[in-house]
Amino acid sequence: MRNVNIIGAGLAGLSAAAVLAEKKIHVSLISAMPSERAQSVLAEGGINAALDVSGEGDTPKEHMADTLRAGGDIADPEAVRGLAYHAPEVVKRLIDIGVPFNQEDGHIAQRYFGGQKKRRTCYAKSSTGKVIMNALIDVVRRYEAEGYVTRYPHHVFEELHAEDGVCRGVTVRDTYSGTSLAFSGPVIVCAGGLAGFFPGLTTGTTINTGEVQAGLFAKGVVFSNLEMIQYHPTTIKTSAKRCLVSEAARGEGGRLFVDRGGSRWYFMEEKYPELKNLMPRDVVSRKIRNVLHDPACGDQVYLEMSHLPDEVWVRRLPDLREEIIHYLGIDPAKDPVPVSPAIHYFMGGIDTDAQHRTNMEGLYAAGECCSLYHGANRLGGNSMLGAVFGGSVAAETCAGEAKDDGSVSPDVVNSREDGAVRSSFKNELCGVLKEALGIVRNEDGLTRAKDEIRERIVPSASCRMEKMIAALAEAMIESALFRKESRGAHTREDYPKRDPAFCGAVTAALVSGKLEISVRRISGDENPV
Ligand code: FUM
Repeated sequence: MRNVNIIGAGLAGLSAAAVLAEKKIHVSLISAMPSERAQSVLAEGGINAALDVSGEGDTPKEHMADTLRAGGDIADPEAVRGLAYHAPEVVKRLIDIGVPFNQEDGHIAQRYFGGQKKRRTCYAKSSTGKVIMNALIDVVRRYEAEGYVTRYPHHVFEELHAEDGVCRGVTVRDTYSGTSLAFSGPVIVCAGGLAGFFPGLTTGTTINTGEVQAGLFAKGVVFSNLEMIQYHPTTIKTSAKRCLVSEAARGEGGRLFVDRGGSRWYFMEEKYPELKNLMPRDVVSRKIRNVLHDPACGDQVYLEMSHLPDEVWVRRLPDLREEIIHYLGIDPAKDPVPVSPAIHYFMGGIDTDAQHRTNMEGLYAAGECCSLYHGANRLGGNSMLGAVFGGSVAAETCAGEAKDDGSVSPDVVNSREDGAVRSSFKNELCGVLKEALGIVRNEDGLTRAKDEIRERIVPSASCRMEKMIAALAEAMIESALFRKESRGAHTREDYPKRDPAFCGAVTAALVSGKLEISVRRISGDENPV
């Protein structure tokens, strides 16, 4: 039987596994944590598809246009076309496997979400990720029982096997037994974003350590748009991390305000009368930062939701209310909630074509670890769509062309690991990155970070993996330095405008051990929509 190795068992990994298993191709599904603890279960708000159930005239064409516009016009238009036009089919498939989306008047309900004028986001209360994951886990368990999937939870990445530019497999380590296993055959990477580079500062899970990406980068895999980091405007601080207050809260009518001269200033509504509080996330986060720098304003932005009807709290946002009460002791149905922007999503990552191929034969990537659909800023509700759809496209591509069949059973091998990544190392690195890669950046801050990584972080690295992580972090900083313009989530106060010279992907790769950064401009159709 043919074997494909998937690293990561969240939405993208499960979606890819289901497509391959359906074709009777065996999947070795390898993940640091079981699916139930993947970051995908944290996704709250919903999944986009232009179903037009509310009769507003929504279309996939408009979904495509909104995605490209919110992404600062640097996402691959062909890939985005596929995403938007297949979205209704993706949602239908999810319904078929039992995802309990909210219903209204006998049909699927859709809510408003950021950056979109039409109700396009399908949801299950405020726990959409959890219920989609539950359904996909069940699908994959059936294939497991049939012998088409073998799951390897609690296995962490050690090394990608690459020979003459071809991916031959991967070595991983069982964190329970300490045994290292070598898997042969093609690899689909679905390892999530780089939240692990920012411990305590993100809504994401730091189980996504970035070690897989660092290992790939060291082997010459090309990355793109590493500077594009999304700050979600509304998060709350908890002792360990940032907790998301879903955009759904604003989709249902929540309003942002700051105290100005003793009264509530609804700054988004005044400045953006059309989309108001639902402007794309980069715009809202920047605006929050700006009002907090305004001496006439108080030093805290609040989300007001006390006017939302009971029905919304009961049927659409129950978990969100519970979470806020749990973490802050504030009932959002009664009082305003203090919120602030925090890192939420990495638009950049492993560079792929629209079929999810990387620059290395036999290696594919999907989900948040790959840079494809979201350009300079992701539209809310497109993350789960990108993961489910992208995972299936990667699987189809891999099934259709991978030459190396691999073996269903891995070999036990000696580990090459020479030490684990220390939390002190991660915290030091995070300190450097957070100063330089905030909502607003500049040459001085980025140059300081580059120097600190070279002079302090790299020399302090005590093992192979720490060195590889430092190299990828340096590429993030160099990408941000290279993009001398402001676009989407990348705001340079020293280059405040867009520059057509950077209308495309900023790519980063190690070539013969040397970092090379360049821009691949988006070409072709002037008006792709
Ligand atoms: O705000 C949210 O519920 C986040 C959704 C997303 O990142 O797509």
